[in-house]
Order: sequence, then structure tokens, then C-alpha cells
Amino acid sequence: MRITSLSPALGAEITGVDVSGALSDADFSAVTQALHDHDGVLVLRDQNLSPDQHIKFSRRFGELFGETEPYQDTVTKYLLPGYPQIFRASNKIVEGEPQGRTRAGNYWHSDVSFRPRPAMVSILYAIEIPSIGGDTLFCNMYSAYERLSDPVQQFLSSLTSRHDFARNTNIGFSHENISAQDLEGGNAAEHPVVRTHPESGRRCLFVNPGNTSRILELHPRESDELLEFLFNHSVQEESIYRHRWSVNDLMIWDNRCVMHYAIADYDEDRYMHRTTVMGEKPV
Ligand code: SIN
Repeated sequence: MRITSLSPALGAEITGVDVSGALSDADFSAVTQALHDHDGVLVLRDQNLSPDQHIKFSRRFGELFGETEPYQDTVTKYLLPGYPQIFRASNKIVEGEPQGRTRAGNYWHSDVSFRPRPAMVSILYAIEIPSIGGDTLFCNMYSAYERLSDPVQQFLSSLTSRHDFARNTNIGFSHENISAQDLEGGNAAEHPVVRTHPESGRRCLFVNPGNTSRILELHPRESDELLEFLFNHSVQEESIYRHRWSVNDLMIWDNRCVMHYAIADYDEDRYMHRTTVMGEKPV
């Protein structure tokens, strides 16, 4: 197994490992250690995975969305038929499959942060990619926190925010993907603005433009302005890695300390399968 850093901001590439079969505990530990050492982004190159193998590998991290706890109901139509754990980020028309989610994740976000137990890692497998474009950006939320001054870090550590799937209507997400249940707060949760990563023990910012709607302790205008500052501050170029995909890349990112953004700048087919591992209640 060879592990190579991808950028000074975050991320590493692993070659020489095959996760389709029985990965030893030692190799799995080396993968998770590399994920933490590189601040929550890894790409495993040259994987050949069936949906069942993708799910089996993902379960090594924990319980998957789509098993005991479903994805939000408007996402159901984008799941791979027969596989409630696999979300299709895809603009490709595939025989026997309904249309996948086009322009999935075309805004900065942390997956499923609107649930009491948000996502731990997401594991995205590139089956077909455009000849150019369709890159994904990853932003290091440890460094976003660490770049703040001590008094601001302390102030933010006393705050709680609301994460709400219905907020997606405010950032251009089509209304057909927001249900009455979402609008009534059925996919909303409250989390600390600064969380401590359970494995690394490090603190990071845990707000994102896709889902974070409000800082509860502040007046609405204060909340709007502080969130806008935090969103802009987080995505400084020095904190970002831009991934140019290759077919058979298996990308793992840790939603607890990373935001991501899928760039929708392509016309050709792009077809990807994602599993999402449930995390713990943020503290
Ligand atoms: C997502 O937000 O999970 C989709 C990412 C991508 O398609 O690059």
C-alpha cells in the first residue's frame, strides 16, 4: 500500500490496495489511519467494485444510511434499484434505472448534517466520468477553525446551530426535492458550531452553506452575518483540494471535518455510486 499526499490542504491517494475482497484488519486500519492523518480525504485508485462489494467495504466503517435509518424520502428515487444504501449521483440515462440525481451536491455541504446523527464518511465510486470537468472540491474544516483567533474560537465554541434539509430551497435546489415533511422540520437537527472529532480529538468548524440555517443563541441578523462570515472564511483557497476524477476512483471523505462541492460544469455522462456511513451525535 502506497500513501501519497494530494495537496498541502488535505487529502491523500492510496494505491496498491484492493477493497473488493477480504481486506485484512491491518490494511483497513492503515486506510482509516491515512484518512485521519490527511484530515479526512482519501482516494483509493483502481478499484473494481460491484454494488455488493461497495456496501460490504463501507460497512467496515459502520452502519449505512438506507439500512436502519432511511435517506430523506425525496432522495428515494435516486437510489440504485434494489440497493437502498446506494445513492446515484448521475446525469446518465441507464436502462432499467430511473434518472439519478443530476447536479448532486453542487454547493458546499457536509452530507446529511440535518440529522441528529449526521454522516461519518461518504464513499463515492466513479463509474463513468466526463472527459473534462465534473471535479469535486474538498474543504478542510479543521484548518477553518484553526485559522480563527482564540477569542473567536472561544465564542463559537459556546454556540449551537440548526441544520435543515429544507434550507436547500434557499440555495437553488429545486423544490421538487423538498417534501412537506422537510418543510415541517422533519429533516432538521441542532449541533454545536464547533465539534471535536472523536478519533483525532481535534476541534473543527461544523457549519455548512447547504444545510446550516441558523445560530440559535443569536438574533436572526447576527446569525445570518456570522454564518456568512464563517462560510466565506472556511473556503479560502489554502484549505481546499480539488479532485480530478479517474474512472475506478473510490473517494472517502469524513463529513465530520470536511465540506465538499461537486462542480457541475460538464455535459458528458458522469455516473457515480455513493454510500453514506452514519456517524455519532456531534459534541
Ligand atoms: C455528493 O455531494 O455527494 C456528490 C459529490 C460528487 O458527485 O462529486
